[in-house]
Amino acid sequence: MRVLAVLSLVFAVSSLPLPGQTKVAAAPPMGWNSWNHFAGHVTDADVRSAADSLVSTGMRDAGYVYVNVDDTWQGKRDADGVLHANERFPDMKALGDYIHSKGLKFGIYSSPGAQTCAHYEGSLGHEAQDAKLYAEWGVDFLKYDLCSFQDNMRKAETEHPDDPSAAKNLMIAAYRKMGDALKATGRPMVYSLCQYGVDQPWKWGPELGANMWRTTDDIDDSYGRMIAIGFSQAGLAKYAGPGHWNDPDMLEIGNGKMTEDEYKTHMSLWVLLAAPLLAGNDLTKMTEADKNILMNKEAIAIDQDALGKQGDRLYESGDLDVWTKPLSGGRVAVGLFNRSWSTRDVSVDLGEIGFKSGGSVRDVWKQKDMGHRSGVFASRIPKHGVTLLVVSK
Ligand code: GLA
Repeated sequence: MRVLAVLSLVFAVSSLPLPGQTKVAAAPPMGWNSWNHFAGHVTDADVRSAADSLVSTGMRDAGYVYVNVDDTWQGKRDADGVLHANERFPDMKALGDYIHSKGLKFGIYSSPGAQTCAHYEGSLGHEAQDAKLYAEWGVDFLKYDLCSFQDNMRKAETEHPDDPSAAKNLMIAAYRKMGDALKATGRPMVYSLCQYGVDQPWKWGPELGANMWRTTDDIDDSYGRMIAIGFSQAGLAKYAGPGHWNDPDMLEIGNGKMTEDEYKTHMSLWVLLAAPLLAGNDLTKMTEADKNILMNKEAIAIDQDALGKQGDRLYESGDLDVWTKPLSGGRVAVGLFNRSWSTRDVSVDLGEIGFKSGGSVRDVWKQKDMGHRSGVFASRIPKHGVTLLVVSK
């Protein structure tokens, strides 16, 4: 009995985070965000039903735990400057409690500017007050979107024509201010910067306590835009790691305007990029294909792998592109992409990626072992399609 008590004490103590250890975003955050589907019309009921669906579809158990309300939840500030939600969100604390009661986490959205991108109330001048309010509501994630703060940056540029860094410094100070305000609440929250990659946030984000930062302007539900973003991420791998991730924007899988192969390309690229996986579709209306893509456990495991390394391009040849991501246990994930309009063979030399004597090849989308292979591994891939592999010794 006593041994058991001591053992459980040791276990309890050893599971506490070490001083300075990041508890949030140890792996790329996963969840759902209201913007890509509901945009400016989102309601409390939509968010609650998204939370219900995360549970009923199995998404929560696959790892999608953040339920993030994006822009347009805000109402007005009262005489004390306290921000209230608008009539579409009658009680934010109750919404947070509901989300938490489902074993999920609650995310919210604001801007360092006076106004958000959809012209709702931003946090400028109210950073500490807003951070405190989020903590009271039980918020676990803040997306902080540059939006109208760009007006302040343009003004700084005009006022300091001799200082090429005036706008950048002002922006960084604004993001630092909210980062500090969040820390001061004592409540762990994922801090997600959204400023479209302006001035390389991967270089200064981690130091402000940011856990992720958008690397580009907005995604939309089109193959062209999705691949333009995804394949432009080459070279950013070294800036990602546990607690701080590059964010190529939220997922469009399930929003209906891409083919199944195109959505598989989307998911494959994002998991190779160790990107945050924030679904952006209507979770109450998912097809079997959408579910299979979003909930492919082996694809998700590539994204969430314990090594915490982002993948990068191995080579590109015309419309064919090959990316690799190092995984724990000496394994390597490989994405063979065909961006052309016809079926093509895409190949990778297993010797070149660390498997000189060959390796066991697993096809993630076919969910099939391809056996022990060596030398060149080739795959016939339909237009806009992908073969996603995990190779192990
Ligand atoms: C910006 C962001 C989007 C979304 C909208 C909301 O465009 O990049 O992700 O949050 O604002 O207005």
